[in-house]
Amino acid sequence: MEKETSLKRGGFATALGALIATLGSAIGLGNIWRFPYLTGENGGAAFLILYLISTFLVGLPVMIAEIMLGRAARANVITTLRRLSPSPRQPWWLIGAAGGLSAFLIMAFYTEVAGWVFAYVFRSLTSNILSTNPEVTTQMFLALVSDPFQSLLWQWIVLVLVGLIITFGVARGIEATTKRLIPLLFLLLLVVDVRALTLPGAVEGLTFLFKPDFSKITATAALIALGLAFFKLSIGMGAMITYGSYWKDDQNIPSTALRVALSDLAVSLLAGIAIFPVVFTYGFEPTAGAKLLFITLPAVFAQMPLGNFFIFIFFLLTSFAAIGAMVSLVEVVVAFLSEQFELPRKSATWLAIGALALVGSTAALSNSTLANFTLFGKTLFDLYDFVTSNVLLPLGGFFITLFVGWSLKPEFVKEQLTNRGQLNNDRVVRLFLILVRYVSPLLVLIVLLDSLNVF
Ligand code: PHE
Repeated sequence: MEKETSLKRGGFATALGALIATLGSAIGLGNIWRFPYLTGENGGAAFLILYLISTFLVGLPVMIAEIMLGRAARANVITTLRRLSPSPRQPWWLIGAAGGLSAFLIMAFYTEVAGWVFAYVFRSLTSNILSTNPEVTTQMFLALVSDPFQSLLWQWIVLVLVGLIITFGVARGIEATTKRLIPLLFLLLLVVDVRALTLPGAVEGLTFLFKPDFSKITATAALIALGLAFFKLSIGMGAMITYGSYWKDDQNIPSTALRVALSDLAVSLLAGIAIFPVVFTYGFEPTAGAKLLFITLPAVFAQMPLGNFFIFIFFLLTSFAAIGAMVSLVEVVVAFLSEQFELPRKSATWLAIGALALVGSTAALSNSTLANFTLFGKTLFDLYDFVTSNVLLPLGGFFITLFVGWSLKPEFVKEQLTNRGQLNNDRVVRLFLILVRYVSPLLVLIVLLDSLNVF
């Protein structure tokens, strides 16, 4: 029998379980949908370089810091920061409160995109969605997102499913699926990559993705790359604090986090390699934005035997990956509500899902009914996306680095990252401290200020 590795306080029973659940949170629409479209919009390889720097010099240290905090306090994000804060007067818990807000806003647009994925799963079963004609695939996508009824319907289906997963079979189910899903997703991406790489536009696609044009490095691109790194690793808002609280005491945090970051990067690159050759073969625009995934994929699958079947599997796997990420987002809110107000997990979950349906609807309708309702020149969907990735997550990460690097004692950090001296991680700890005290916060600060045109 498999060991129970539930998300109830007590946590993941095995090291592998913790790794897998954490990967399940990291890997999601961020890899398949967001990474390619942001890379396309912001200049390809130059953006990739900014993204790599952000991931390893900022993202990874913040991820390690968050997991460490959660595991040390074994509590939801707000309680964790309260408990570990050196003085009750220092309001570090505000990072947690902002994190709860981020979880909400991310879910609002994430569930909508997940809804599109679900809709494509369904459509690939009921009709032929393959075409190499950009106009056809674009129209198909627009017909979906500009239909208020369908947008809401699919989003709510996603929400109910996430709610059911959290309340029922829960973590064990998630871990079991994620464990099988990630290798499958990898494999399928590889197959699609092979097909994409044998298209006439392959060289151009790869050049775009891997040969940097340094003039494309701008303040905006840096901010977006940083935001993507936070979004990808599920950091800056408490998801990793919450998941860290379920990690076992003897788990090697830095090395597990590194493995998560590398696997996550691999999935993103595979997705990019699947998409850009298609873009350059059939005349799609790399800058097509949020719709890029949905309009290009039907073209590469149109060139494959059993294309309709494979695109069905592809979107199905993507929807599973999205669910793992959404569960971790909602878990931030549920862990807080249930621990703070002593609510049963079930009530906390449905309370959160209900509220999310309300906020999420405003994102779902932002391509139809609310299309003309804009704030700061952005639809609500874009606004939630922008504010979370480019403001709230980097700020959250910034304060986490200040908390761990400057407010906590280095001895505490060392004790946590060496599992009280059991691991020979001394060099890692030294490197971590340099990153978390100086490098990461400074980089975030520079990028944020630069994007405000301070320099
Ligand atoms: N990392 C997830 C993805 O890339 C999104 C996410 C962000 C999940 C923040 C949890 C917290 O799809």
